[in-house]
This record gives sequence, C-alpha cells and structure tokens, in this order.
Amino acid sequence: MKLFKLFLASVMILAFAIPAFAQDAAKFGYIGATKCKTCHQKDADGAQFSKWLDSKHSKAYETLASEEAKKIAKEKGIADPQKAKECIKCHVTGYDADASLLGPKYAVEEGVSCESCHGPGSEYKSKKTMKAISAGEIEPASVGLVKPDKKLCLGCHNDESPTFVSFNYEEAKEKIAHPVPKQ
Ligand code: HEC
Ligand code: HEC
Ligand code: HEC
Ligand code: HEC
Repeated sequence: MKLFKLFLASVMILAFAIPAFAQDAAKFGYIGATKCKTCHQKDADGAQFSKWLDSKHSKAYETLASEEAKKIAKEKGIADPQKAKECIKCHVTGYDADASLLGPKYAVEEGVSCESCHGPGSEYKSKKTMKAISAGEIEPASVGLVKPDKKLCLGCHNDESPTFVSFNYEEAKEKIAHPVPKQ
C-alpha cells in the first residue's frame, strides 16, 4: 500500500513536472544568425558574426551537399543528407524544432549557427536583456541563453559523426574563439 502511494505520488509529480518543463523549452524560438549580426558584427565588439561566417560551422549545411557527404550517405542508404535527420541533427541549428518556433530569418543554410551553441534567441535578443545578463541581473537560462561548454561540443564532435577522427576541446575552442575585447 505504501509503495502504491509512492507510485501514485511520483506519477503525479511527473504529470505536473513534464508539461511545465516542455512549456518552458517551447517558449524559446530560433531567430537566425543575421539577427545576432545586428549587434555582434563590429570589430570593436569582437566581430562574432564574421568570425562565425568564416568558420566551418557556417558551412555545415552546404557540406551535406558535397560529393563526400553523398558518398557517406549512400553507404548508409540515405537518399539526401540535407534532408536526413541522421545528418542534419549535427549539421543544422534547430533541425527538430516545431515550425512555430522558427522566426522569419531562420534558415537551414546557416548550418551550425550562433543558436546551436548559445540557445534559441527569441527571448534574450534584446539589448536590454543582453545587458542585464552581462550585468548579472538576469539568470541567462531563464531567457534561453546557454553557456557553451565542453559537453555541448561533444554532443556533435563524437564518433557518431561518420568523419570523426578526434576532438581536442582546448584547441578547437581556440579555433572558433570570438571574445568581446576587454575594455
Ligand atoms: C539588440 C542587440 C543584440 C542582439 C540582436 C543580440 N545581442 Fe548578444 N549582446 C548584446 C549586448 C549589448 C551584449 C553585452 C555585451 C557586453 O556586456 O559587453 C550581448 C552579449 C551577448 C553574449 C554574452 C552574454 C554573457 O554571458 O555575458 C552572448 C553569448 C550573446 N550576446 C549572444 C547573442 C546571440 C547568439 C544573439 C542572436 C541569437 C545575440 N546575442 C543577439 C546585444 C545584442
Ligand atoms: C550542433 C553540432 C555542433 C556543435 C554543438 C559544435 N560543433 Fe563544431 N562542428 C560541427 C560540424 C557539423 C562541423 C563541420 C562543418 C563542416 O565542415 O561543414 C564542425 C566543425 C568544427 C571545427 C572545424 C574543424 C576543422 O576541421 O577545422 C571546429 C574547430 C569546431 N567545430 C569546434 C567546436 C567547438 C569548440 C564547439 C563547442 C564550443 C563545437 N564545435 C560545437 C558541429 C558542431
Ligand atoms: C554526431 C554528429 C554528426 C552527425 C550525426 C553527422 N555529422 Fe558530419 N560532421 C560532424 C562534425 C563534428 C564534423 C567535423 C569534423 C568531424 O568530426 O568529422 C562533421 C563533418 C562532416 C563532413 C566534412 C568532413 C571533412 O573532411 O571536412 C562531411 C562530408 C559530413 N560531416 C557528412 C555527414 C553526413 C553525410 C552525415 C549523415 C550520414 C553526417 N555528417 C552526420 C558531426 C556529425
Ligand atoms: C560552435 C559553438 C559556437 C557558435 C556557433 C557561436 N558561439 Fe559564441 N561562444 C561560444 C563559446 C564556446 C564561447 C566562449 C564561452 C566562454 O568562454 O565561457 C562563446 C562566446 C560568445 C560571446 C561572449 C564573448 C565574451 O567575451 O564574453 C558572444 C557575444 C558570442 N559568443 C556571440 C556569438 C554569436 C553572435 C554567434 C553567431 C554569429 C556565435 N557566438 C556563434 C560558442 C559558439
């Protein structure tokens, strides 16, 4: 009897907890890298947009149309890697997001964009919010901003990637670095 009550209690906790969490996650929409560009492109601020554009991450979708990609896909029985979940899960930002969460500027062509690493930006994109986050007045996660760490990179840079060789976090982080210059 005691066990059954415990079971009931956990079912109730789950029933309340899961929808609440799903609602939270569902609030944050993908706005696309060109939106971030508005405020993150000046050299004086660290030129994050052009650094990303020059990196391989911005070409990740395009890569899936290459001969090499087609060859890999064929061996796995995949017709079009640019449409296959097995490939876009690591090559496209927000690949599985509900269409209602994709803003007008969102584009699969952006490949692995800002929001793959920093989280969907609809709720943190305003200057006011971004400044409040930097000042420590808002908890970043409450508006969807993710702090990118090693675990995030390893979510894609692992041996599930058909072309994976190895991943050195420190070196890789240096390669894609786009810090805000110290004042
Ligand atoms: C309207 C202007 C604006 C837009 C649009 C914008 N940002 Fe920002 N962002 C800022 C400002 C201002 C800061 C604070 C910089 C500072 O404190 O020096 C900031 C800071 C950040 C930080 C550092 C936050 C921290 O932890 O201190 C990240 C990461 C960031 N932005 C990512 C993004 C991404 C990704 C997008 C697009 C989804 C984006 N921003 C869109 C203005 C903007
Ligand atoms: C959503 C998946 C995803 C995440 C998260 C991700 N990457 Fe990548 N990364 C890729 C893909 C896909 C490529 C290859 C793109 C291409 O070549 O078209 C890549 C390429 C790179 C490259 C270029 C490799 C080379 O040969 O020069 C570096 C460096 C890199 N990533 C670093 C990082 C770091 C550091 C992090 C974490 C902060 C990270 N990545 C997070 C998917 C991801
Ligand atoms: C688990 C994440 C992941 C999956 C799934 C994935 N990739 Fe990638 N892909 C990466 C990463 C990370 C890179 C960058 C270097 C590396 O680790 O191979 C990459 C790089 C590539 C490259 C460029 C290799 C080079 O030498 O520049 C091709 C082509 C590619 N992937 C094709 C595919 C195809 C086709 C699929 C689907 C069958 C696929 N990938 C699935 C993460 C992934
Ligand atoms: C592959 C993952 C990845 C992508 C893509 C990416 N970033 Fe970042 N970003 C990082 C990492 C890692 C850091 C460093 C975080 C740290 O040191 O705590 C960072 C830091 C930042 C910072 C803060 C710098 C500082 O000095 O505080 C800003 C602003 C930022 N990114 C904006 C952007 C914008 C805008 C884009 C797209 C144009 C973008 N990022 C794309 C991983 C990424």
